[in-house]
Amino acid sequence: MSTAPTLNSIRAAQERLRGVIHDTPLVSSQSLSEAAGVDLKFKPENLQVTGSFKIRGAFNKVAQVAESGARGVVTASSGNHGQAVAWAARHFGLPARIVVPTTAPAIKVASAEAFGAIVEGYGTRSRERMDRAHAVAAELSYAFVPPYDDAAVMSGQGTIGLEILEAWPDVDTIVVPIGGGGLISGIATAIKESRPDVTVIGVEPEGAAKAYRSREAQQWVELPSTESIADGLITLSLGKLTHPIIERYVDELTTVSESQIRKAFWLLLTRLKLVVEPSGAVTAAYLFAHGRERLAGRRVAAVISGGNVDPAFIHTCPIE
Ligand SMILES: Cc1ncc(COP(=O)(O)O)c(C=O)c1O
Repeated sequence: MSTAPTLNSIRAAQERLRGVIHDTPLVSSQSLSEAAGVDLKFKPENLQVTGSFKIRGAFNKVAQVAESGARGVVTASSGNHGQAVAWAARHFGLPARIVVPTTAPAIKVASAEAFGAIVEGYGTRSRERMDRAHAVAAELSYAFVPPYDDAAVMSGQGTIGLEILEAWPDVDTIVVPIGGGGLISGIATAIKESRPDVTVIGVEPEGAAKAYRSREAQQWVELPSTESIADGLITLSLGKLTHPIIERYVDELTTVSESQIRKAFWLLLTRLKLVVEPSGAVTAAYLFAHGRERLAGRRVAAVISGGNVDPAFIHTCPIE
């Protein structure tokens, strides 16, 4: 099986997803375009099934393992990916096991359970959970569904790139958040293999700049620790598969501060009426902070990747 997505595998994912998930619209706001100093449209995946883009990759992968006869699926994520795998498994009538840290918030456990998954608390470190998920997969003959380092998962995420090009053929720049790098690897492949003239920019929190540091060091880098309110972006490293794709296809890598993320959350809530999680707000944070100086006059699509935020987060944001 291939280790990288291609334009063909992304188009095949688009066919699998058709009629199952939402074709999210591109939304704009004159005041936010003015605030960023660019012609700005958002791709609001916070409005997507399960509240994030993760359903695209999870569904594409689960569809393929279901076709090849898997008896069930397992993953090790308490966040958006876990919910997406649970949703996709239910769609195909497969049992799902989600391994989460023993410290996982009850609300996240409850949402995966609501989609019918069995949630198992195991350890507190991500490597422990990963090992446990692989052990469950072997024990029960279930298929493991990786969160980002997988060609089928990346292909599903890449469908966002195709949708942006279809909805806005004149777009010239696409801005994408980076965690383990699956989302941007899929989107950048879709873009560069069909419209290489379109610029792709990746954004990370300053406290989790693994792609930025890897490019600087000209090699795959694992950070000793990461910290950010953007909890979907704090992996210690890119994937071994996503890293070379990012190096090949992503034009620019950049970072944003915690206060820039909070400000963007607030502007998206009050101006666009969009409830966005911090990980989903980093693209807007970058554009509000640097759009005018770095991208003036450009036609920019920003991916708002998810909306699963604890409502109490609002109290930590500056009221403007
Ligand atoms: C809302 C949100 N945005 C972005 C990302 C990053 O995606 P990736 O790990 O594919 O780079 C995640 C990952 O969990 C996420 O939950």
